[in-house]
Amino acid sequence: MTAMVVAGHICLDLTPQLGASARLDPGRLIDVGPLGIGLGGCVANTGLALADLGADVSLHSTVGDDELGRILADTVARRPRLHSDLHVAPGRTTSYSLVLEPAGHDRTFWHHTGANAVFTGDTLDVGDAPLLHVGYPPLLPALLDDGGAPLERLLRRARERGATTSLDLAVVDPSSEVGSVDWTGVLRRAAAMTDILSPSLDDLTSALGATSGIPPLPAATAAQAYADLLLGWGAAVVAISAGSDGLLLRTASAERLQRGGRLLAPLASSWADTSLRVRPFLVERVVTTNGAGDASTAGLLFAVSRGASPTLAAHTAAAAAAAVISGRRPTAEVMSGILPAAANLFATVEG
Ligand SMILES: Nc1ncnc2c1ncn2[C@@H]1O[C@H](COP(=O)(O)OP(=O)(O)OP(=O)(O)O)[C@@H](O)[C@H]1O
Ligand SMILES: [Mg+2]
Repeated sequence: MTAMVVAGHICLDLTPQLGASARLDPGRLIDVGPLGIGLGGCVANTGLALADLGADVSLHSTVGDDELGRILADTVARRPRLHSDLHVAPGRTTSYSLVLEPAGHDRTFWHHTGANAVFTGDTLDVGDAPLLHVGYPPLLPALLDDGGAPLERLLRRARERGATTSLDLAVVDPSSEVGSVDWTGVLRRAAAMTDILSPSLDDLTSALGATSGIPPLPAATAAQAYADLLLGWGAAVVAISAGSDGLLLRTASAERLQRGGRLLAPLASSWADTSLRVRPFLVERVVTTNGAGDASTAGLLFAVSRGASPTLAAHTAAAAAAAVISGRRPTAEVMSGILPAAANLFATVEG
C-alpha cells in the first residue's frame, strides 16, 4: 500500500545521562553519562507510532544542511516502515532539543527551532498517498504567513490529489512569536481544507479561547463546543483529547465525509453524524504523558485506514495513548493486549 505522509515539525532529542552533580559550573569539567539520540516532534512521534501500528509512513520535514540533519535522516532510515522524504534547507540548522534531567530534578529543555522555522510544505509531493497528516502549525511559523496561506495551500494540494487531510495542533504559547497570530482566521481556513482534526483541548483553548466566545467550561462541555466550531468550519472528523478526561469523537454528515479523500470517503455512511466519548484506559503506572496525544492521533488514523467503525477507532486512539503512557510502543502485540477488539485491525495488515 502507498505510504501515508506525515509532514511538519521534527527535531532530534539529545539526552545526556546526567548524575546528581551535573550543573553549569564555568571552568570545571563534570563527568556525565552517554548521550541518547532520538527523534522528536510531531512528525517523528505520530510517524513512529503509525509505523509501530503497522503502517508504511513517509516523513516530510525540513532539516538543515548540517551533521545533525544527516544523523536525523539516518535515524529515520533505520526504522522499519519509515521512509524519509526530508527537505534540506541550505544555510539552515537542524532543530534539536537538549533534554537536561539531572538525577532527582525535573527536566529542562533547551530547544533550537532551526529549520522548522522555514517549513512550508511547498516541496512535498503527496503523489497518490491515502493520507497527509500535518503537525504542528504553532511550531511552524512559516506556515502561518499571510494569515495561514501556506498551510491552506499544503492541505489544498493534498486534497486535490485525493488524499485524506489531517491536522494536529500544539499549545500556543501567548508570549511566543506565534502568540499574536490570528488563530481564528488561520484555523478557519485550515479546517475548510482538513478532513480529520485531532487537537487537544489545551491546544484549542490556547489558540481560540480568547476569541471564540467559548467560555472556560468543564472539559467535556468545552470539547463539545470546540467540536461544533471546527465541524462548522468544514472539518469532517474532529477528535479532541483532554488528558485524563479522555477523547471526544464527532463527525459531519455523510455528504461531507464522501468528500473526505481516499480513507474517509469509503466510510461515509458508517461514520456520519457520530458523537461519542471514550475514557482513557487505566494504566498501572504512568511512565510519561509525552507523546500521548501524538499516539492517540496515530491510533485514530491507523484505525480509519483499516476501515474501523468510529467506536473502534476512538478506542484504538485511547489504546495507543495508553501504550505510550505505560512506557511501551503501540505495536500490534501491545495494542491487542490493551484492546483485544483491535486485533482484527492488525490481522488485515499481516494477512
Ligand atoms: N493523565 C492521564 N491519564 C490517563 N490517560 C491520559 C492522561 N493523559 C493523557 N491520556 C491519554 O492520552 C490521550 C491524549 O492526551 P492529551 O489530551 O494530553 O494529548 P496532548 O496534550 O496532545 O499530548 P501530547 O501533546 O503530550 O502528545 C488522552 O485522550 C488519553 O487517552
Ligand atoms: Mg497533541
